[in-house]
Amino acid sequence: MAELLPEIRRTKAGVQILLRSSITDDAEAVKFIAESVLQETIFHLSAPGELQLTLEKVSERIDACRRHPSNYLLIAFQDNKPIGTIEFTGGHRQRIAHTGELGMSLLEGFRNQGIGSVMLEALIDAVRASGRIEKMCLSVLGDNERAIALYKKSGFMIEGVRRNHIKFEDGRRADIIEMGLLL
Ligand SMILES: CC(C)(COP(=O)(O)OP(=O)(O)OC[C@H]1O[C@@H](n2cnc3c(N)ncnc32)[C@H](O)[C@@H]1OP(=O)(O)O)[C@@H](O)C(=O)NCCC(=O)NCCS
Repeated sequence: MAELLPEIRRTKAGVQILLRSSITDDAEAVKFIAESVLQETIFHLSAPGELQLTLEKVSERIDACRRHPSNYLLIAFQDNKPIGTIEFTGGHRQRIAHTGELGMSLLEGFRNQGIGSVMLEALIDAVRASGRIEKMCLSVLGDNERAIALYKKSGFMIEGVRRNHIKFEDGRRADIIEMGLLL
């Protein structure tokens, strides 16, 4: 089981953020955070409503993460309020089982205050400590400057660009940037 026991980290402004692995009881909060961020089409591959999240699906995802030794679904709290999630999924095939993909979401009112930085730091520390993973990967939209700045600050390097890989509903195109961190 890939589990992060509850721990408190401080942002650069000294705000306390509690981080831990999500449990089934968090399904509603995890669903709310995912749906809230997915409404902002500019940050994610999925169009709003496309994923059709249900409490059952989210609970299954949480359970699956807890069962798999290389998967994490961490939830972040500020003053007991769930405000963000960060997820890591280990590679599904033998030759990429030493790698995995991450994704993260923070509710809008909590961004740009250093909270994403502590969430990412906690995940990297947990994944590194597991000793199972050698490389963390992610895909980010080319115009998501804040996310790219955060990933670079945490040591991720750009490994490639998928040009015009995203086509929004209004016809606008965006690049996907592939990034990786060798642990
Ligand atoms: C991406 C996200 C997780 C980052 O979390 P966050 O708490 O906002 O990030 P932080 O405040 O910890 O760090 C952001 C960094 O980017 C910098 N930054 C912010 N806007 C920037 C911009 N337009 N250009 C360059 N750097 C920028 C900040 O100064 C900060 O760096 P610093 O700590 O050295 O000052 C969060 O904003 C979010 O959930 N966004 C919506 C969903 C999303 O984009 N998810 C990622 C999909 S890949």
